[in-house]
Amino acid sequence: MLATDPAGRIRTEFGIGNRPSAHFARVVRAVAQPLQGTVYVIEHLRRLRQFGLIALFHQRRVPPGPVTPPYPYAVTSPPRPAEPAEPAEPAGARLVGAGLLVPCLDTSERPYRDLDCAASTPALQAVADKVADFLPWYSSVHRGAGYKSRTATTAYENARESAHRFAGRAAEDGNVVILCRNTTEAINQLAYRLRLEPDDVVVSTVVEHHANLLPWARVAQRRWVECGPDGTFGVDDVTKVLDAGRPPALLAITGASNVTGWLPPIDQICEEAHVRGIPVFLDAAQLAPHRRLPPGPDYLAFSGHKLYAPYGSGALIGPRDTFTTGDPFLAGGGAVDLVDLDEVIWTEPPEREEAGSPNVIGAVAFGEAMDELERIGWEEIQRHEAALSVQLHEGLRSIDGVRVLGPVAARDTTTLSVAAFTVEGIHHGLVAARLSAEFGIGVRHGCFCAHPYLLRLLGVGPAGVADARAAVLRGDRSTIPGAVRASCGLGTSSDDVDALLAALRAVIHGGPAPVAYEQDNVTGDFWPAGQARGWGDSDRPAGAACARG
Ligand SMILES: Cc1ncc(COP(=O)(O)O)c(C=O)c1O
Repeated sequence: MLATDPAGRIRTEFGIGNRPSAHFARVVRAVAQPLQGTVYVIEHLRRLRQFGLIALFHQRRVPPGPVTPPYPYAVTSPPRPAEPAEPAEPAGARLVGAGLLVPCLDTSERPYRDLDCAASTPALQAVADKVADFLPWYSSVHRGAGYKSRTATTAYENARESAHRFAGRAAEDGNVVILCRNTTEAINQLAYRLRLEPDDVVVSTVVEHHANLLPWARVAQRRWVECGPDGTFGVDDVTKVLDAGRPPALLAITGASNVTGWLPPIDQICEEAHVRGIPVFLDAAQLAPHRRLPPGPDYLAFSGHKLYAPYGSGALIGPRDTFTTGDPFLAGGGAVDLVDLDEVIWTEPPEREEAGSPNVIGAVAFGEAMDELERIGWEEIQRHEAALSVQLHEGLRSIDGVRVLGPVAARDTTTLSVAAFTVEGIHHGLVAARLSAEFGIGVRHGCFCAHPYLLRLLGVGPAGVADARAAVLRGDRSTIPGAVRASCGLGTSSDDVDALLAALRAVIHGGPAPVAYEQDNVTGDFWPAGQARGWGDSDRPAGAACARG
């Protein structure tokens, strides 16, 4: 029954048509339960010997009828949720870990509802497959004459090519892709490489993630574009700040807010900056998984772990000229042509900017994720997420006691399917803890690494900020202002959003929690009392606090 390819990998698909799984006892856990669907066995023989058989089971959608029971291996799970109104995933997007069951306080296991995609996305199956295929060929990059090194180098450079294509910036047009760890590293690298003078000015906005605030503070003066109470600003607000004093050396702006999902009008903003001769850096960490990258910005950065490639890779993209002179951000092996004890001749970019052995697995995953998003298509991605955005924002606004932060999501989809909200009278940390412990729903709470923006959206004045500062300085994070954030991705279904809305209604209007929750003042997080499986004292994760930004 198991076939192997010449490399020893098993890649067999089994169609299962309502036959007892005893036939497949080696590949699925639910012995003697009827199954319908497909089993994909994808593991390597050598690993099989070590770990036993590893398989993926994809249940076939079963039309209503006399087939019983309908759910394959849900030994302890509650009844299977109703068929989603929206397709769970856009065509072609299969995600690793979809449908995982997680323990809840009532001792049930529920399908995990991942509404924290703005933090990190799960891996696309295509990405996991690509990594599995590449792993046997893993070797040093740009450092070996052996066949495996050559293969690994090619794979690494192919990922760079994917980034050029994905960003619409060809190497032949003078662009360079620097592969790095993530957006934060990319921005720090750019801040260093622009070689700004201390009195140079970088214009940025109060909407930014800390990653696009803090690196600029080290190298230049900053001028700010403020936002209104709804968390947005217009093109005019930007031009006023660009024109308000010494001409800035750079405009550093986000492509999409990680808090509200708002999309600033980047095309027009770039035009205005360029008319004034000001280059633009776009923090595309949130935009890249959801929209084709805009052509206007001079520099771009984004992270693989937010676009379905959770293997620690990202990219900084910009004009090659920026990186052909001056010291690279990191000094070390691979970045040089010649070194003597008192001399160094740096090599050409991009290698000049990538000292040290690179994360080739991460790059391969990152490249495949970008290719796969292009294959799925931006129209399809946007169609899926626009419906979720409307459902999420309108659903939240319809619940008494919920206040959604940021602009009212227009049906023209100028907002990503991301929403930050507060619940009247309930600490944001408690809302997030209850959604997780009682409903299996994963969200984030806190300030989302965007303190200035969140404080504005919440309307926390100077006195509130002073209180928060004093509390943090004495090591108490329990009262830091914050909100809850729900964020969708390719694997999110309308059923997931409905489940969130229903759970919130239950938390707000359904009476007291089933157990007491205790807040840890050091982390700010809440934890349920008792020893339910997955929620006992030994399960308490060390420092999983969302309060830090
Ligand atoms: C808008 C934005 N910029 C930058 C970052 C930082 O990304 P990373 O943690 O991958 O460096 C994030 C992460 O949440 C983000 O949302």
